[in-house]
Amino acid sequence: MDLFEHQAKEIFAAYDVPVPTGRIATTPEEARAIADELTGKVVVKAQVKAGGRGKAGGVKVAGDGAEAEQHAKAILGMDIKGLTVHKVLVEQASDIAEEYYASFLLDRSNRTFLAMCSSEGGMEIEEIAVSRPEMLARIAIDPLVGVDRATARSIAEQGHLPEQALDGAAELLEKLWTVFVKEDATLVEVNPLILTGDGKVVALDGKVTLDDNADFRHDSHAALADKGAVDPLEQLAKEKGLNYVKLEGNVGIIGNGAGLVMSTLDVVTYAGEEFGGAKPANFLDIGGGASAQVMADGLSVILGDPSVKSVFVNIFGGITSCDAVANGIVQALAMLEGSASKPLVVRLDGNNVEEGRRILAEADLPVVHLEDTMDGAARRAAELAQKAV
Ligand SMILES: Nc1ncnc2c1ncn2[C@@H]1O[C@H](COP(=O)(O)OP(=O)(O)OP(=O)(O)O)[C@@H](O)[C@H]1O
Ligand SMILES: [Mg+2]
Repeated sequence: MDLFEHQAKEIFAAYDVPVPTGRIATTPEEARAIADELTGKVVVKAQVKAGGRGKAGGVKVAGDGAEAEQHAKAILGMDIKGLTVHKVLVEQASDIAEEYYASFLLDRSNRTFLAMCSSEGGMEIEEIAVSRPEMLARIAIDPLVGVDRATARSIAEQGHLPEQALDGAAELLEKLWTVFVKEDATLVEVNPLILTGDGKVVALDGKVTLDDNADFRHDSHAALADKGAVDPLEQLAKEKGLNYVKLEGNVGIIGNGAGLVMSTLDVVTYAGEEFGGAKPANFLDIGGGASAQVMADGLSVILGDPSVKSVFVNIFGGITSCDAVANGIVQALAMLEGSASKPLVVRLDGNNVEEGRRILAEADLPVVHLEDTMDGAARRAAELAQKAV
């Protein structure tokens, strides 16, 4: 989960990483009140989970409350890289002498953690990484050793930070590493990390990605989720414990096992070329169990998607036998009663397949179309989706 800048800075502050004082506003009036309270120059910053906010006009300095209100008025509702700005951070303006870059991240390709640091901060760090890679220090961090003050200082030195910033940067980087470890982040990035006129090192921006796999150790992380931005169907699926991803097409997909579901997406896309460009509407892996309840939950999420015109249920019975899945489908449709009216193409194979097919044939459900092969079922589902338009 990616965090907003203000959330990142709240976490930084909790670990004693120096950040400017500031608060969130959702209206221009609120922005004014915060600016009046902070006194002096403030910065009004768009809160969207995208880079390049400054360049898009989403970061503006204001001399007083009235000006902050004007800036907030312009920035709230602004579109930055397809994201609407719903809130702004109003914070004390810093006296910037220099801008640097620093981050810790999980380096998957090298199977380690990585520190990155550069005296060339503030702008697109990706550009520097390409045009002048020698200016961006990349230092592998041994997770068993971590980052103490000396290591942190060495990171800052290798990033070519000037002498007067080294002490402050070392202190800040050591704390930033603590944030990275204690919060189970996969990224903590500060761009710019600044040196102020009076020699302090401060995190002026913050980008944090938390590892969702570690959510169970962090009760506080659930509150950081941006509920408004999540697709409502994905939200519903998450609440029901389903592995569901919404896609753009019109053929709903249910399968057991991630590999089978992924190949189902491929065969449906392929079959769809012949049927008006029918495409998968989602990824949904119901896993091993495939009980009636899980099947009903999966179907209700998929059928709740108005762009779904047909559903392809693709089951390979392994440990779960096909008769159990067939019973699950029959019971699920009974649970959903009238709400399951879209055609359901079912392909069963594997463990106890004859019994599974017999159960479905006997139930004689008008919405169910039984197919023998995966390709045949994909074609049928694509065809039915096209017909429904
Ligand atoms: N509190 C502040 N005081 C003074 N200047 C600031 C402050 N916050 C930001 N700035 C200035 O605005 C610039 C852009 O801010 P910031 O890095 O937060 O946004 P951005 O880089 O455009 O966004 P992103 O990092 O998402 O690409 C900074 O490099 C800095 O010069
Ligand atoms: Mg930035």
